[in-house]
Amino acid sequence: MDFTPQGQAWVNSLTLWHSSTISRWLLLLFSPYPLLHPTWICYPSVVEQHSEYLEGLKAFLRIPSISTSVEHSNDVHKAAEFVRGELSQAGLDQVQLIEETGFPLVYGEWRHAPGKPTLLLYGHYDVQPADPLEEWVSPPFEPEIRDGNLYARGASDDKGQTYILIKAVNRLLRSTGRLPVNVRFLIEGEEESGGGHISRFVASQPPLLQADAALICDTEMFAPGLPTLCVGLRGIVYLEVEVTGARQDLHSGVYGGAAPNPLQAIAEIVCALKGPDGRIRIPGYYDRVRAPSAAEREAWSRLPFDEAAYREHEMGVTALVGEPDVPLFERLWARPTVEVHGIRGGFTAEGAKTVIPARATVKISSRLVADQDPDEAAAQLTEAILAACPAGYKAEVRVLHTGAPWLIEPENRFIRTAASALTEVFGRETVFIRSGGSIPIAGLFAQHLGIPSVLMGFGLPDDCIHSPNEKFLVANFFDGIRAVQRYLEVLGSEGQ
Ligand code: BES
Ligand code: MN
Repeated sequence: MDFTPQGQAWVNSLTLWHSSTISRWLLLLFSPYPLLHPTWICYPSVVEQHSEYLEGLKAFLRIPSISTSVEHSNDVHKAAEFVRGELSQAGLDQVQLIEETGFPLVYGEWRHAPGKPTLLLYGHYDVQPADPLEEWVSPPFEPEIRDGNLYARGASDDKGQTYILIKAVNRLLRSTGRLPVNVRFLIEGEEESGGGHISRFVASQPPLLQADAALICDTEMFAPGLPTLCVGLRGIVYLEVEVTGARQDLHSGVYGGAAPNPLQAIAEIVCALKGPDGRIRIPGYYDRVRAPSAAEREAWSRLPFDEAAYREHEMGVTALVGEPDVPLFERLWARPTVEVHGIRGGFTAEGAKTVIPARATVKISSRLVADQDPDEAAAQLTEAILAACPAGYKAEVRVLHTGAPWLIEPENRFIRTAASALTEVFGRETVFIRSGGSIPIAGLFAQHLGIPSVLMGFGLPDDCIHSPNEKFLVANFFDGIRAVQRYLEVLGSEGQ
C-alpha cells in the first residue's frame, strides 16, 4: 500500500486514466490476461451506464441514514424506501420491506435458475454518524467527486458496496433478461448500531432466506488493484459502565481526599482491563483464542505492506501500540482487544471548575476472535469491571450489543470460485486476508442458516470509513460491479 502523497497522486491519476476508454483498450494490450479480460465483454456498456449509476449512488448517499441517532430515523426509513425502489427497478420479484421492530430489512429475489445455486446478497443502507463535521472538506451528505474518489458518509461503508450488488444484478437482468444463479437480497438498516432486528429474523430461519451461500460486500481490498477476499472477522462485545460516587457533585477542595471520584474509578477500571503492553488482564480471556495456522501467518507476511507508510500516512502516528511480541496482522486480525470509546462525566466545558462529579459513564468494547464466545466474553468483562471497581462506588454494567467472530476455510467452493472470478477481473492473483472489523451477520448466517459467506470487498484502507472525509474510489465501484457480475456468471457455469 502506498500512502505517500506521491503514491496517492499516482493512484488518482491512474484512476482517472483508467476510466477513459482509450486507456482501457491500451490496458488490454498490456494485461497479463488479455483474452480473459472482461473489458472485452462488458466495458462499453459500463461506459454507457457510468453516469446513470454514479447519479443513482449519489442520490442514495444524499440520504443521511444514521441508524444510531433518533433524529435521523425518518432518513433511515427513506433509505430503506430507496433500496426497495432500486430492487424493483432492477427487475427483482417479491420486493418488500420486512418490518417487525427497528428499521426495515429490504428483501427482493430472482429465482428462475433451477438447478443453480442460490446466493444471499447482503449489504447495509445505514451509516455511521458524520461528526466531527468541521473536518469534512465537502459536507458528508453532499456527495462530491475529487481526484477519482467519491466523498460522502457511507460512500464505501456501505452504500457504495451495497449499490455494487444491486447494479451487478440490474445489469445482468437488463442485458440478458435472466441471471446465471438464483439470488435473494437482504439489505439491512441497523448494522452500524448493532441492531437486533436482523439477528432475530435470521434466527427464525425464515424460508425466504434459504440459500447455498451469502455474498457480502462490506469489506476492503488489501491495496489498490489487489483483489481481496476476507476470510475472517472479529466479533464484538460493546458495553457501557455507569459509576456512581456521592449523592451529588461536591466541592473538590472541601471534599477532595475523602470523596470518591467516579472518573478516577473509571481510570482504574480501564487500567485493570488492559495493561500498557496491550495485553488484556482479564483471567482466562485468551483461553479460547485460536492461533492462526503457520500457512496463514506465512501468507500474511508476504502481503505487500509498508509498515512505516501505514503508521505515518494512513494513521499519522509516531509509534504503534499493542502486544510487543505479536506481529501486526496477528494483533489486528487474530487477537482480542479492549478499547475505550468515550468517557462522559464531570466538567468538560471551557474554563475551570473545581468539582468532584457524582457519576460518570464509560463506553468500552472488546473485539473477539475465534473461538471466543460473545456471551462468555461479556460475562468475563462484567466480572472484571465489577472486581476492579474500588470501594465507595457503585458500578452498573450494561451490554449494548454483541457479535460473534467468524472464520471460513479458503478451500470452500464458493470462496474458490470467488477468488478465480476476482483474479480474472483484476488480472492479479487474489489475496486472502482477515479483518479486524465486525460484521455480525456473517456469524449469524453460519450459525442459523448453515451457509458460508463470501466477503468480497471493494473499499480501500484509506477510505476513512467511520471517519471524516469517507470516500470510495470510483474505479472500484465499477470494477466491483464487473467482479460481482463475473462471480455470478462463473458460479452459474459451474452448476449446483
Ligand atoms: N464494514 C464494517 C466492518 C468492516 C470494516 C469489515 C472494514 C472489514 C473491513 C461494518 O460496517 C462495521 O463497521 N461494523 C461495526 C459492527 C458493530 C457496530 C457491530 C464495527 O466493526 O464496528
Ligand atoms: Mn459496513
